Parts: sequence; C-alpha cells; structure tokens
Amino acid sequence: MWDRLLTDCSVATMVPSGDDPLGIIRNAAIGIVDGKIVRIGPRTELAGMRARQTTALDGALVTPALIDCHTHLVFGGNRADEHAMRRAGATYQEIAEAGGGILSSVKATRAASEAQLLASAKRRLEALARSGASVVEVKSGYGLDTETELKMLRVAKALDGHAGVKIVPTLLALHAMPPDQDRKHYVEMVMKQTIPAVAEEGLATSVDAYCDDIAFTPAEVEAVFTAAAAHGLPVRLHAEQLSNQKGAALAARYKALSADHLEHLDAEGARAMGKAGTIAVLLPAAFYCLRDEKVPPVDLMRKHGVAMAVATDCNPGTSPTLSLPLVMNMATTLFGLTPEEAIMGTTLHAARALGLAHERGTVAAGKVADLCVWQVESIAELGYWIGLPGPDRRIVAGEDR
Ligand code: NIG
Ligand code: FE
Repeated sequence: MWDRLLTDCSVATMVPSGDDPLGIIRNAAIGIVDGKIVRIGPRTELAGMRARQTTALDGALVTPALIDCHTHLVFGGNRADEHAMRRAGATYQEIAEAGGGILSSVKATRAASEAQLLASAKRRLEALARSGASVVEVKSGYGLDTETELKMLRVAKALDGHAGVKIVPTLLALHAMPPDQDRKHYVEMVMKQTIPAVAEEGLATSVDAYCDDIAFTPAEVEAVFTAAAAHGLPVRLHAEQLSNQKGAALAARYKALSADHLEHLDAEGARAMGKAGTIAVLLPAAFYCLRDEKVPPVDLMRKHGVAMAVATDCNPGTSPTLSLPLVMNMATTLFGLTPEEAIMGTTLHAARALGLAHERGTVAAGKVADLCVWQVESIAELGYWIGLPGPDRRIVAGEDR
C-alpha cells in the first residue's frame, strides 16, 4: 500500500522521451512512499494500485519542485539606496568603487547577529518557497573575514528545512576585496584559514569565487580553487558577468559544477564548459536590474551542448527578487530561452548545478517526491506569465506544504 497517489494530471517529468525533451505524460499518476516517488506513468498503468491517500489534481500540470541554484539569501540590511543611485545614473562599478555595493552589505552583515541574519533570511526563504522552491543554494560572501563567513554559513545551516526547503550551502570565498588589505595576503588568508575552517566544520558543499575586472583575477581564483580541491570541495564561479576574463574556461579546467552569469562568454569558454559538463547558470534578474545590454550567448551554449540552469541570484545589490517564476519569464523574454529550457533550467539543470541530480530535478521512480502543481494549460504558460506568484500546490517529500 502506497502512502499517496496523485492522479488526474499531466506530468512534465524532465526525463526526455522521443522528441519531447520534457517527457510529458498525459493523464498520469504518481505513487509516493516514504517521501519518494515509487512509480510514475499513465494512469492506466497504475490502475489497481492502492494508497492511503489519493489526490486528484483537476487536470493540473505537475513539474519537479523548483530549485534555486544561485542565491545570496543571507545578508544584513538592504541596498534600496543604490537602486535610487543607479536610477540617477551611477553604474554598479562606480558604486562599488566608492565603497558601496558589496562592501555596504559586508558592513551590515558583520554588524548583524546570527539571530538577526536568520530571521531576515527565513522571511526571504518563505517567499522563495511560495514561488515553488524546495531546494535553495545559499552563498556566504558578505563577511570577507573568516569569522563572518562562518557566521553566514551557520545561518545557512540553521535555515535548512525551514519552509520545507533543503539548503545547499556554498562558501563564496572570493567576492570582493576588503578595504585596506593587501590582495596577496587576503587570498592567502582565504586559502589557509577560511577554506580549512569551513571544510572542518562541514559548512559548505562547494566553493565559489567572483572573477571579473572589479573583483578577482583568474590567477587568484585558481589559487583558491586549488585550496578547495585540497579539501575535497568542488568549485563554481561567477564568470564573465561584466567582462571576459576567460573565467568559464578556467572553471571548466577545474571541473566546476557551474559557471554563473556568463553575459560575456566566448566560444572558447562555451566549448570548454560543454566538454567538462559545467552547467551554465543564467541570472536574468541581475541582468535586468543592472540594465545590462549584453545578453549571454545562448546559441553558443546550445551549439556546444552546455546545459543551462536559471536562478534568482537573490542578493541585496543586483537582484532583489524572490521569485523563480519571474526569472523563468525573464530568461525567455530577455535571454531568448524557450519555455522548455526555462523549466529545465529551474529543475533538472539546477539540480545538476548543485550535484543533486541523483535525487532531485526529475519526476522519476527513486527521486524525492518534491513537486509543483500548476493550474495551467501548458508548459508555455510558465515562461509566459510575468511574475506568476507560484504553483497552486507545492508538495515536499510527498506532502503538501
Ligand atoms: O551574483 N556578481 C557578484 N556578486 C553578486 C552581487 C552581489 C552584490 O552586489 O551584493 C551577483 O550578482
Ligand atoms: Fe551571485
């Protein structure tokens, strides 16, 4: 006897079948035991199977629950003032160079207690959950000293499970240069102190860095990637957002799980990512917020077989959004993704970017029963509505949440 049987639905399984990349099964049923999917198929194939609870879904569309694979969810304060400054003509780079930007969030994050950071991050996580998320990646990176980076990651750990969301914590080891510090000493401190401390406490499952002309050089990133590898931690990279530093190729060389942003990606970088299986994480809300004009080369990524994920990049400076359906819309409207690519980007490919594809991202036997139920007529609607509030029902480990 199963725990739950879902019926009267179409399911976009994300397991390609024939020429349907989403593997849509119409008039489907899903069997759930112990929070996991045990069977998924046409209703007729599951006829006669019995469950303690049967839920008819009124013909709705079921997808895997959404996965936000790039956020900076934990931070002190906010930067609404910079929004106003940018509207008055200042650029992100100018604000950063004047000591605002990331550094202003660093100040507020250092000043906040763990309890304060947790309380504000919980509210944001609740909103992301309402938008359909059941897994959210959370980066540190507003500490820029070991103590505050650890504090942020402890908050991320305490967030795990809140609102039914699994948290995947990332040490954002190189985000910005702390003021008045020597670059070489700072990078050494990150390698010799921060990374070992985080690894020892088991507070992160990967290490990230920001490679750009206003951030860190490829050589600095490489040094930190080597230290991460020495501690058995996989890497990911903020790459080619504002300029091309050959960060994507560097990430691919280190078998990075993902390279993120990628507005300035070139053919060489795309080829390297395709070969290495590094996932491209597209962040259209940051592009929108910065009123960027350079669109990531989606055709190049398709050509080189680079899988594309889509994420919110929720952060106080360049992407104050808590809506995955909104970024799916932006990915189609601003970047030219198809609606199919957008939903794969927030499910299967986001799971792959987090190294979780063995347990999440598709509706298949053996996977965790995290599902979104959408009262829409077709998958195209998920890319079409601008700021759809979220699914009509979110199911986490087989239960409505
Ligand atoms: O992913 N690109 C760098 N880091 C963040 C922005 C962080 C901030 O401005 O606070 C990003 O967009
Ligand atoms: Fe980011």
